[in-house]
Amino acid sequence: MDPILQIARAHDLRVLEDSCETMFSMYKGRPVGSFGDIGCFSTYAAHILVTGVGGIATTSDQELALVMKSFMNHGRDSIYLHIDDDSEADPEKLFRIANSRFSFVRLGHSFRATEMEAALGLAQMSRKAEILARRRMNAQFLTDGLRDMQKYIQLPSCPAQSEHAYMMYPILIKEQRIRRPEFIQYLEQNLIETRYMLPLLNQPIFKKIFGDIEHEYPVAQYINDHGFYVGCHPGLAEGDLAYMVENIRAFISQALT
Ligand SMILES: Cc1ncc(COP(=O)(O)O)c(C=O)c1O
Repeated sequence: MDPILQIARAHDLRVLEDSCETMFSMYKGRPVGSFGDIGCFSTYAAHILVTGVGGIATTSDQELALVMKSFMNHGRDSIYLHIDDDSEADPEKLFRIANSRFSFVRLGHSFRATEMEAALGLAQMSRKAEILARRRMNAQFLTDGLRDMQKYIQLPSCPAQSEHAYMMYPILIKEQRIRRPEFIQYLEQNLIETRYMLPLLNQPIFKKIFGDIEHEYPVAQYINDHGFYVGCHPGLAEGDLAYMVENIRAFISQALT
């Protein structure tokens, strides 16, 4: 985050942190999502804290908080952003609420979470240490099982003063003889789900907006062409992880012969 914050300060820019994949992790002793003006966390089914769909946006700026709530509520006037905003209001405030609660002051969305989703998320909050510990243990198991393959594939590591939440386990192919499409196909056929890494530059919509500039970012391009993730979910049993290691090793050995 440090270089990003420096650039933002130098150019008077606001920072929105997409911390979707790193909930509850620390960078230099501070929680991710707390460095920028707004932190965003996803609670989609595959993520660290799961409500089914949706997410959480945080800020410590009161004005931004009101605007964010308004965006979530169809761009509604900030006088009435929550169903309880009219309870215990004095007559003067009640009058103002009644007259402006259907006033829409900006273009917004209908992104409100349901109470059921919130309850699911809150219940998992008390288990966050356990969820993270389990993900980190699973990642360690995969790393231990693949350590001697590091000449051919790059495994995840954590820079100093940073923590990894292991929403997924990233693998980057280093060896030319290991072809990603066949590797992924092999794993999927053996019921090990994969996902591409997405440094965005090769996404059709970004190409449309910014043009074909991927070649200007060789590291992102390499990751787009050679990287993928496998799962690291806390629900994976040791046998599942051993099966993943076995299959990854089997494909690499086969590709090298
Ligand atoms: C970095 C990152 N940001 C955002 C998202 C999307 O989150 P959501 O589905 O809650 O919009 C994802 C999804 O995996 C992600 O990996």
